Amino acid sequence: MKALAVFPEKEELRVIGDHSMPELTSPHDVKVRMLEVGVCATDREICSFEYGAPPQGFDHLVLGHEGLGEVVEVGSAVSTLQPKDLVVPMVRRPCNDPECYSCREDRSDFCYNGNFVERGIKECHGFMTDYVVDHEKFLCKVPPELRDVAVLIEPLTVAEKALEQIWQVQQRLPWTNPEAPNEQGQHRAVVLGAGPVGIMGAMAFKVAGFDTYVFSRSPAPNPKANLIESFGVPYISCKTTSVEEMARQVGRIDVVYEAIGVADISFKVLDHLAHNGIFVFTGIPGYDPPIELDAAKLMRNIVLKNQAVIGTVNASRKTFQDAIRDLGTFMEQWPEAVRAIISGRYAVEDANELLMGKATGIKNVISLTGKPAEA
Ligand code: BGC
Repeated sequence: MKALAVFPEKEELRVIGDHSMPELTSPHDVKVRMLEVGVCATDREICSFEYGAPPQGFDHLVLGHEGLGEVVEVGSAVSTLQPKDLVVPMVRRPCNDPECYSCREDRSDFCYNGNFVERGIKECHGFMTDYVVDHEKFLCKVPPELRDVAVLIEPLTVAEKALEQIWQVQQRLPWTNPEAPNEQGQHRAVVLGAGPVGIMGAMAFKVAGFDTYVFSRSPAPNPKANLIESFGVPYISCKTTSVEEMARQVGRIDVVYEAIGVADISFKVLDHLAHNGIFVFTGIPGYDPPIELDAAKLMRNIVLKNQAVIGTVNASRKTFQDAIRDLGTFMEQWPEAVRAIISGRYAVEDANELLMGKATGIKNVISLTGKPAEA
C-alpha cells in the first residue's frame, strides 16, 4: 500500500509503496479508506526533523493527522458505524499507565506523563495512506453534507477545546453565560493569527456570541484578511497597528485566543488583557532566541486583575463532536468562506513541495483517492 513517510535519520520524505495493509484485529475495529488529509505546521516541523518520532521498530513515520475517510469494513461488535459512513479519526491514543487517570477515562488529551502516542506525529503511523484501522471510539462520524470541508474538523478542534476550557475556567464568574456571552460581560475576543486555526477560531468565537477581532502579521488587504472580513470579523495587522493601538480600537479584551505561535506578539497582547480576562495559548513556537519581557508587570497584572493564562493541546471525542456541529453551522452561515480555507488539493506525489517548500496558501490538502478533486 502507498503511504507518505518521513525518515528522520536519513532526513528524507518520500512515498513508499510497501506500507502493509492493516486488518481488523478486534471486534471493535473499523477499516477506513482514507480520502483526504490536511497539511499543517506540525507536519512541516516533522519534515524539518525537529519534532515527531517513528513507531518503535520503524525507521520511518507515516505522516498525517488531519484525516477524513470512509468506512469500508466493521468488526462484529461495532455499533456506531457502518460501511460508507464518513469519519474523522482522532489523533491521540492513550498511554498504558494504570495511574494515568485522564487516559483511563478516555481523556488522553490531558495525559499526565507524556507517554501517549499520536497518529502521524508521535510513535504511531498516520493517515497519509490508503487504508487505516482503528477502534470505533477513535472515529467520529461526519454527516455526508460536510464531505467537501470535513478535512477541516481536526484543526477546528483546537478552537473548540479552547472555548470549552474558557467556559470551564470562567465559571469563576458565575454571572457569565456561555449561551449569551454578550449579555453578561466576557464578550470580547481577540484571535491572534490568521492561519486555519486562527480563521476557524474567529468563526467559532463569533458563532459562540463573542464580539471577535483578528490581530495578525500580514498587512491588509491580503487574501486571509479578506476572507476573515467576509464573515464579519475585523482584521487588524500588527505590521501597521501597534499592540497599544489595537487594544484602544478593540476596547476591553476579555479573551485572547492565541493561534500565532509567536511569543513576542503574544506576550505584548497579554499585557492588555482585561480584568477577569483569560488568555489561551494554542500555538507551538519554534526554538527562537529568548525575548525580553517585563515579567514583574505581567505577574502583577495576572494577580491584581484576576487573570487566567492557560495552554491547550489535542482534543477529546466530545471536542471533535463540537467541531462537527460548528462546522455545520459555519457552512450554513458562510459556505464560501469555509470553502475558501481549503487553498488547494494535491496528489500525494506532490507532498514534498507542500511539506518542505515555502509555506503557501491557507489549508492545503492531500487527496488519497487518485485525482485531486476541485478545491
Ligand atoms: C495536533 C494535536 C497534537 C499536537 C502536538 C497538533 O498539530 O493537532 O492533535 O496533540 O499537534 O503533537
